[in-house]
Parts: sequence; structure tokens; C-alpha cells
Amino acid sequence: MDLYQACQARRSIRKFKDKMVPRKLITKILEIATTAPSGKNWQQWEFMVITGPKKDEVARCYGRYVEFIMPPAGQRTPEQEEFLKWAYTYGGAPVIIAALCPAHGQPGIRKMNLESVAAAFTQLLLAATSEGLGTCWMTGPLNNEGELRKVLDIPATKELVCLTPLGYPDENPPAPARKPLEEFVTWIGF
Ligand SMILES: Cc1cc2nc3c(=O)[nH]c(=O)nc-3n(C[C@H](O)[C@H](O)[C@H](O)COP(=O)(O)O)c2cc1C
Repeated sequence: MDLYQACQARRSIRKFKDKMVPRKLITKILEIATTAPSGKNWQQWEFMVITGPKKDEVARCYGRYVEFIMPPAGQRTPEQEEFLKWAYTYGGAPVIIAALCPAHGQPGIRKMNLESVAAAFTQLLLAATSEGLGTCWMTGPLNNEGELRKVLDIPATKELVCLTPLGYPDENPPAPARKPLEEFVTWIGF
């Protein structure tokens, strides 16, 4: 799969097979992720690769938040029930990856750090796609960041940027529509 194909094939996957991803394959994907550009070449990304009971604890943090903002049981639509299940289990993914960077009080540096992590995370998602794996970029879990930080024992010196489940897809969702280029591109000097 070439890069263009991977960009087009990547989907947010929210349902996974009950099949572990080999550690060697996860390592390969992380290595490609870290070929990304980074501000000042600080390579200011960190990844937590989580499986087992800790992974379930991480997922429950998101589930609890989603349950909190939803109508009570018995008053939810089937779509809301489905979303809640996804949140509580990360779709049954065998692995969750959390991306972090050093926390920084200076807005310019903080932005640079966040963008460096985002660059690596994008590459991680594309590499996973080309290996036949599913992912879903997630910031929703940060709505329950306090609990998540406790579960993962993340110190205040680190910023928790985003997470993704990682596993073999058990769904093949259609690509959500994209806006036409004219809506968001300004050509200057052409
Ligand atoms: C910064 C960011 C945060 C996201 N957070 C969540 C999330 O918390 N939960 C979720 O289910 N999807 C999340 N998504 C996935 C988007 O919903 C998804 O990318 C979008 O609907 C387009 O679908 P696609 O990824 O299949 O192209 C996030 C995506 C991005 C880039």
C-alpha cells in the first residue's frame, strides 16, 4: 500500500477483533511514527502502549465520562447505547496507545510540542493502516483527564495529547464525506 492509498484507506475504527497485535508489529509502527518532523528536532513525543487490565481501566475512564453526559439507561437511543459501548471498551481493541509530550507553560513551545506529537501520531495511524490494523484518533477521553492520568500515573510535567485503540478491524465503515477543496483553500499569487 503506498502513502496515497494508506491516506485514503485509513478510517476511524470503533470495532475490533479479539486478536492481539504482535509487539514486533507495534514496534515497527512506532518506529515509522518517529520518523515524523518535530519542532527543533526535539522528538518530543512519548507513547504508552497499553494492554491487559490496565487497558480496560483506561477504557472505563472514557466510558464513565460518556455515560455521565448521556441520558440515563432506558432513555438512550440505540446509537447512544452503541457509542457508550464503544467508549467503555474502545471497541474491544487489544491495545491502546496514548501519546504524550513534555508540558510547557510557554504557549509557543506548547504548540510546537503538540504539533510534533500530532505529526508522529498521524504517521502512526497511516502505518497501522498499511499493516491492516485499525485505529481511531481520540481526544474525547481527555474529558476525564484527571482519572486517566491517575490510572496511567502521568505526572504534571507531561501533557496527555491523544489516544488510539489499536487492533484488527472488525468493521469496514464508509469514508465520511469531505468538504470540497474550494471551501478551505485560498490560492495566493497564482
Ligand atoms: C483530534 C481528533 C480527535 C478525535 N476524537 C475522537 C474521539 O474522542 N472519539 C471518537 O470516536 N472519534 C474521534 N476522532 C475521530 C473523528 O471522529 C474522525 O476522524 C472523523 O469522523 C473522520 O472519520 P475518519 O477518521 O474515518 O476519516 C477524532 C479525530 C481527531 C483528528
